[in-house]
Amino acid sequence: MTGYHEAYRQSLASPEAFWRARAEEIDWHTFPETILSRDAAGHYRWYADGELNTCHLAVDRHVARGCGEQPALIHDSPATRSQRIITYAELQDQVARFAGVLRGLGVARGDRVVIYMPMIPETVVAMLASARLGAVHSVVFGGFSPHELAVRIDDARPKVLVTAGCGIEFTRVIPYKPMVDRALAQAEHPPASVVVVPRPQAEAELTPGRDHDWHALMDAAAPVAPVPVAATDPLYILYTSGTTGRPKGVVRDNGGHAVAMNYSMGAIYDAHPGDVYWAASDVGWVVGHSYIVYGPLIRGCTSIVYEGKPVKTPDAGAFWRVIAEHRVKTFFTAPTAFRAVKKEDPEARLMAGYDLSCLEAVFVAGERLDPPTYDWLHRHMHCPVVDHWWQTETGWAIAANPLGLERFPTKAGSATVPSPGYDVRILDDLGAPLGPGESGNIAIRLPLPPGTLPTLWNDDARFHAGYLEAYDGYYASGDGGFFDEEGYLFVMGRVDDVINVAGHRLSTGAMEEVIGAHPAVAECAVVGIEDEIKGQRPLGLVVLKDGVEIEPEALERELVASVRERIGALASLREVLAVPRLPKTRSGKILRKSIRGLAEQGSVPVPSTIDDPAILDEIRAALAARQLAPDP
Ligand code: COA
Ligand code: AMP
Repeated sequence: MTGYHEAYRQSLASPEAFWRARAEEIDWHTFPETILSRDAAGHYRWYADGELNTCHLAVDRHVARGCGEQPALIHDSPATRSQRIITYAELQDQVARFAGVLRGLGVARGDRVVIYMPMIPETVVAMLASARLGAVHSVVFGGFSPHELAVRIDDARPKVLVTAGCGIEFTRVIPYKPMVDRALAQAEHPPASVVVVPRPQAEAELTPGRDHDWHALMDAAAPVAPVPVAATDPLYILYTSGTTGRPKGVVRDNGGHAVAMNYSMGAIYDAHPGDVYWAASDVGWVVGHSYIVYGPLIRGCTSIVYEGKPVKTPDAGAFWRVIAEHRVKTFFTAPTAFRAVKKEDPEARLMAGYDLSCLEAVFVAGERLDPPTYDWLHRHMHCPVVDHWWQTETGWAIAANPLGLERFPTKAGSATVPSPGYDVRILDDLGAPLGPGESGNIAIRLPLPPGTLPTLWNDDARFHAGYLEAYDGYYASGDGGFFDEEGYLFVMGRVDDVINVAGHRLSTGAMEEVIGAHPAVAECAVVGIEDEIKGQRPLGLVVLKDGVEIEPEALERELVASVRERIGALASLREVLAVPRLPKTRSGKILRKSIRGLAEQGSVPVPSTIDDPAILDEIRAALAARQLAPDP
């Protein structure tokens, strides 16, 4: 085991030598001679002349090395009271046949496949089958509305959409097919074919000629072998929230991603072939892509696909049951999930019934592990608890306690140290470096390591403007924070208008677009405020147009409903307050930070740029009237 400091030093001093050696740890169809280069747009690319197939690495390779009988996936579904084990050999059979299905529907290398699915094994099969053909999948999280699905369909322009009869939220059945039908009716570039996995909980109506039953197609399909693709070919597009209503299509390539997945599974998670690895997230998020599907499978682990919740499925002991029953070695979830467990079972009494001796590490990400939850976990878990920081854009941890390299003592509120390959710096707003203890913008010196986004789908210009322009030679992460004197990184939150609700990344700008479109609304602001369980939740403030007469409660109901309808239930907007004016700078910029401060602390320092300080009192009064502001 190379120690962390040596690995980190090598990765920055000789990135090509470091990542060539890491590339040797996976199988290639053609091993790359060029390790790092720039493409026509001037963006860094890894392994440009290498060829490989990600599905081969994740599936076939393990069968070929004699591990066909090892469980690849364990579907544990308290939602349907069922469990299913799928071995690597069975996974290979299903994936090869579903690749045949997709090919039969006209999907070839480079074509897109949109996947709108719940947490069932077929979702993983669909992703891997797309990868097998060299096609590009785009998974859309089930909590998004038909409108948001349509926006993603129009951007990705898929040949095929794969869905299922329904998802299950706690005990509530959410039929997916009617949502897909609405999205397809709205989309300008709907796919020609839809494949539906039937579920007994909700019957799905199939439109003849367009819609197909998964099983009927699978029964007739001929298996297809993996198609070698260029390392730089896209493997998937994953849409994430930016500061506007238009989602950003983060592109992941095949070669850099496979190397990064294999490396991070070892170096960060200390996970090895045969280990049972569980990321309790959703395949709709980057955590699901990297550490439910690709990371564990490329590494040859057994991955748990969990269709349940941390609580109420059936109780707050759900995590402990799954860990004990399937002998999970590494567990990964979001802090919000532990806050939900802590609220229902503050003394973790439900842990007592389970043998958790198999568990060697707990990882959290998606939001900062807040110190109270960190303390609770440290009190109750008898293994390292690791907060690690990453983003959809990077695909793997920018900072972590790299358990496979070296185990650092943890500090509450810190994501520990930068991962090898990431040259993390703290910069002020003008790009000047800041020293230990000084808070600023977290930036990463280029090149980013393999596995990180090479660009945005069909939008090099937005990639450049959104990430590379702020500080010359750096990737701007959008997060703020600092290093302490010992080199521990503290990530304190976004410096833009992105918020984090229950580990889900949401754009306040997108909600503002929906609210601002209401005929009664002159202007509005949405900010993220502290929430006991979800970390943050959105709060809307609206200023009504002159002369408009509308009951504030009725307006709130309408606005909450339209955000839910337009963006989806996951937006979790519940509170919209009418206020006389919004606080602004003299140049007209809304002071969102001050609104947030008033809701969280009850008072804020008066910004020197504010146009009229009296507005802060008006906002405070409106928040207090709804019990949304603490006493200052
Ligand atoms: N399909 C359809 N609807 C979904 C959905 C899905 N896949 N996921 C969430 N929703 C809906 C929920 O049903 C809820 O609807 P409601 O307003 O009608 O109740 C809404 O979106 C908000 O969901 P959520 O923010 O998840 O809140 P919750 O109260 O239902 O659950 C937690 C709270 C903490 C239990 C839940 O967020 C959780 O398990 N989080 C785990 C963390 C996680 O997976 N993070 C991902 C990144 S690692
Ligand atoms: P997403 O792209 O949805 O994974 O969200 C990424 C964002 O979530 C980051 O930019 C951070 O703001 C936040 N985030 C994720 N993990 C952490 C963490 N461990 N500590 C602090 N913030 C985090």
